[in-house]
This record gives sequence, C-alpha cells and structure tokens, in this order.
Amino acid sequence: MEKIRQIIIDCDPGHDDIVAIMLAARNPKIKLLGITTVNGNQTLEKVTRNALNVCQYLDIDVPVCKGLAGPIVREAPPVEERVHGDSGLDGPVFPPLTKQLDPRHAVDFIIETVMNASEPVTLVPTGPLSNIAMAMRREPKILENIDEIVLMGGAYQHGNVTPAAEFNIYADAEAAHVVFSCGRPVVMMGLDLTRQALCYPEIVDRMSKIETKGGKLFVDLMRFFCMTQKKVFGWEGGPLHDPTTVAYLIDPDCIETKAMHTDIDISGGQSHGRTNCDFFNLTDKVKNTKVAVKLHVDRFWDIVEENLKLYDHL
Ligand code: RIB
Ligand code: CA
Repeated sequence: MEKIRQIIIDCDPGHDDIVAIMLAARNPKIKLLGITTVNGNQTLEKVTRNALNVCQYLDIDVPVCKGLAGPIVREAPPVEERVHGDSGLDGPVFPPLTKQLDPRHAVDFIIETVMNASEPVTLVPTGPLSNIAMAMRREPKILENIDEIVLMGGAYQHGNVTPAAEFNIYADAEAAHVVFSCGRPVVMMGLDLTRQALCYPEIVDRMSKIETKGGKLFVDLMRFFCMTQKKVFGWEGGPLHDPTTVAYLIDPDCIETKAMHTDIDISGGQSHGRTNCDFFNLTDKVKNTKVAVKLHVDRFWDIVEENLKLYDHL
C-alpha cells in the first residue's frame, strides 16, 4: 500500500498556485490538510480570496488560513500584476463567495496541524516562505514532524525578478534562509525545472476536452496566464511553475533531482535572494537540497490531465 502524503500547501494564488492545488486536492496519493496564504503574486487579501473562490468552485473542503501580509524583514516587492492581473487570478469568473476563511492565522495552523499529525507532514510552499519560516521560529518542534519541504522557488541559473534571483525567494530571502537551513530535506523546483513545464496552446487545447470543473478552470486560467507570460516575457507557452511540486509528490519519477548544498544570499546586494546551489560540490558542504534539474514533460502533462479529470462533471 503506497504511503499517502499528508501535505499543507502554502501559496500566493496566482494562476500556477491554483493548478498545484488542483493536482493535490483530489489525488488519492495525497491528503491535503489545508491551504495557507501569503502575500506574493498579489496582496494577501486578494490571494486569500482567490484560494477561497477556487476551493468553493471545486468543492475542496479544507481549511484556508490567511498568513503574513509581507516579508519578515524587508518591504514586500511589487505584486506580479503583469502576469496574474489585478485580482491575482484574472480570467475565470466565480459565483458569489460563501466559503468562510478559517479564523486561525496561517502560522498557527501550520504549527497546530504539523504538531498533531499522526504521520510526518510534507510542506508544499509555492509562494514566498514567510509563513513557513515564522512557523519554524515560533515552534521549532514542528521540525520533528516535517517529512520534507517540496517548494517552488529559486534557480541555479537565471532569475526572473533580478538576473540572480527568483521571485518567491527574493520576496522574502531571510525567510528562505531559515527554511533552507532548517535541517529538514528541501526539494527545490527552481526555474531551471519549471521553465521546462511550458503550457503551449496545444496543451490548453488538450485540456479543453476535459469536461469537468477542473478542466474548465484550467483552461480559463491558462488562457489568461499564457497571454500575459507571452506579453511580459515573450514565452510561447507560459511556464507552469507551482504544479511541478505536486507532480513530484504524485510521481517522483517525473522529475530528476541532484543533491546540492544551497545557501540563500541575504546580503542585500545585487544578488540578494539568489539560491546559491553548489552544482559542482565546490564547497563540500552538507547537501541540504534536492534541486530539480530535468522534467519528463510528457509524463508531467499526463499527470495534469489525469488529475483535472477527477473533478465533478460540468
Ligand atoms: O517565480 C515564480 C513563482 O512566483 C511562482 O510560484 C509564481 O506563482 C510566483 O509566486
Ligand atoms: Ca506561487
């Protein structure tokens, strides 16, 4: 009997964050314990509303808890309105929102849930790491019941918010330092990997044939996301960053990783927020990170298609 992964998704939805949630919420290998939100792609209020709207639309019955409205130390970088729009989830139209926010703060929810879990919990951050770092600092005992941290963030090559840094890490580099140095295994889906998950128009056409609420939402999301990714970055297919984390949980063989030591640049200089991944093991330091290097692309899109089909028919 394959082990069921108990996970918490900490996110800043964001089109790609939502696809990660869609892959996790109905998959039989995963128990989604809850969703926590953090300032990132859009303001905390907007990303939280987006998470609630999607959970309501797809009948995902899990707690949604609001977290930090900004980074732990510095000022928040500008929201990524160019890619995700004013709402943070432009494209789909949702019915009036009735799903209630869970009253617990995200940091308290993470601590309570991990401390009370019968099995170690996998944390799946797909936004800035502010909530995760604060939870670790507030209650270090949670580290004993964290299986691993499978995150979207960083890059061992080129950044996307500066030449050196990727958005999620850059947005709260000090938080990322806490997480990468916490002593629990980190699996890093960096831009080097996620830029292989390009959602070309033919992928959208393929998923448009799925007559479920998941299929429809994916298409409504991607039509907007791909349009803005082309406009802003010139991508013919938008890189679908966040769902690579959950795809890895569903089928680890779809992603190849390389163990490396990773340090976060928190110097405030021009490379601030960079994940310095020791690809050639030059420092011989502890390999605290499994860095994703290769995506088996066909398998990845099969996983997306298989999981979108698990939602209610239209
Ligand atoms: O750099 C890409 C990451 O930043 C993704 O998680 C995207 O959703 C934004 O949070
Ligand atoms: Ca995200």
